[in-house]
Amino acid sequence: MSETVTLPRRWAADRGPLLSATGVTKTFRVARNNAGHNRLTALDGVDLQLNRGETLGLVGESGCGKSTLARVLLLLERPDSGEIRFDGVDPFALKGRELLAWRRRVQMVFQDPYASLNARMTAADIIAEPWRTHRDVMPTAAARAARVRELLDLVGLREGDAERYPQEFSGGQRQRIGIARALALDPEIIVCDEPVSALDLSVQAQVLNLLTDLRQQLGVSYVFISHDLSVVRHVADRVSVMYLGKVVEQGPTEDVFDRPLHPYTAALMSAAPTLDRAEGRSRRRILLEGEVPSPLNPPSGCRFRTRCPYAVARCAEVEPAAVTAEPKPSGAGASGTGSSGPAAAGTATPATGSTAAPAAAGAPHVEHLGLCHFPLDASGAPMHS
Ligand SMILES: Nc1ncnc2c1ncn2[C@@H]1O[C@H](COP(=O)(O)OP(=O)(O)O)[C@@H](O)[C@H]1O
Ligand code: SF4
Ligand SMILES: [Mg+2]
Repeated sequence: MSETVTLPRRWAADRGPLLSATGVTKTFRVARNNAGHNRLTALDGVDLQLNRGETLGLVGESGCGKSTLARVLLLLERPDSGEIRFDGVDPFALKGRELLAWRRRVQMVFQDPYASLNARMTAADIIAEPWRTHRDVMPTAAARAARVRELLDLVGLREGDAERYPQEFSGGQRQRIGIARALALDPEIIVCDEPVSALDLSVQAQVLNLLTDLRQQLGVSYVFISHDLSVVRHVADRVSVMYLGKVVEQGPTEDVFDRPLHPYTAALMSAAPTLDRAEGRSRRRILLEGEVPSPLNPPSGCRFRTRCPYAVARCAEVEPAAVTAEPKPSGAGASGTGSSGPAAAGTATPATGSTAAPAAAGAPHVEHLGLCHFPLDASGAPMHS
């Protein structure tokens, strides 16, 4: 009989904020062609909130800052300004053993299950690797071996897989090893950066179901990054939509998908595949033209204005303030308060994004915020007057 290491169950009744970012800005120094350097603003005043036991989807086109935000949340990048709070603590203020203990609580699942696993290590060694840094977690060889077996079982692999090498597994199985490794330190949050993008469609569903099951079983919370909106709709409770280093819209998944407040979200959603045929027929496809501008030189005013089909002069001059939609009444159809409702009934607030700050612990998640000057009509177009 193996030594049993009991898995923690901490599905919290309290679903208050676990992790939050407020006004997080991150710039990088990039070399110019000639001498000198420029500052690239990868994140520009990002507000974000992850509640306990929740899956927060993070969507947006390539280069909008999703991975940079993930790295900040994992403490791998220090923001230039703004604040991260984890369980009420600023983790960047921690040092030594306290910092190490914090790092345990947030783990990562990477996009590429081929590149992210060391080909010279067995599955057991890969899963056990985090314990080399965090030695006190599994101090004895017997405990480590038992826990590896438990973790293999938890992610749907067999005990006999422990001594096999990554190249002996399929892509989906490799991602299961990556998930087991992320679970080894018993984290409260797992940041998944495009976790199924490299997998075949049929395998994607299996890995997504595994992540969902683990959330139920372990009470873990996810930040789930994906450019694939159908995947995010499937797994996320709430969604943050990023454009060029800013969160332009966030709220409950259904609300953001069904009645976006921002033309960028409306365009993204209109292009997303939908399982609902009737909805698919009625939804007008909004084509996004042009390239995403360089974060080295973002547009003035509304940063979406160079691609927004509805931009007017004011959009170049003034940065839009957040508008807040009323939450969709439970049981209401997709129209909810109506697409003319959100911004029309919404509350204009300062462009600092301060209203996007986390709700008080335990508060219901009623926020749905978008940063456009104008309310959208039923077709997703802003009403300019
Ligand atoms: N270490 C870095 N040095 C310079 N620029 C970076 C660095 N990391 C990211 N960037 C830039 O920051 C922007 C956001 O990148 P990233 O967060 O990877 O976006 P995403 O994950 O949404 O594709 C991009 O313009 C990218 O080139
Ligand atoms: S403020 Fe609204 S209408 Fe103006 S460019 Fe931005 S998204 Fe488009
Ligand atoms: Mg990325």
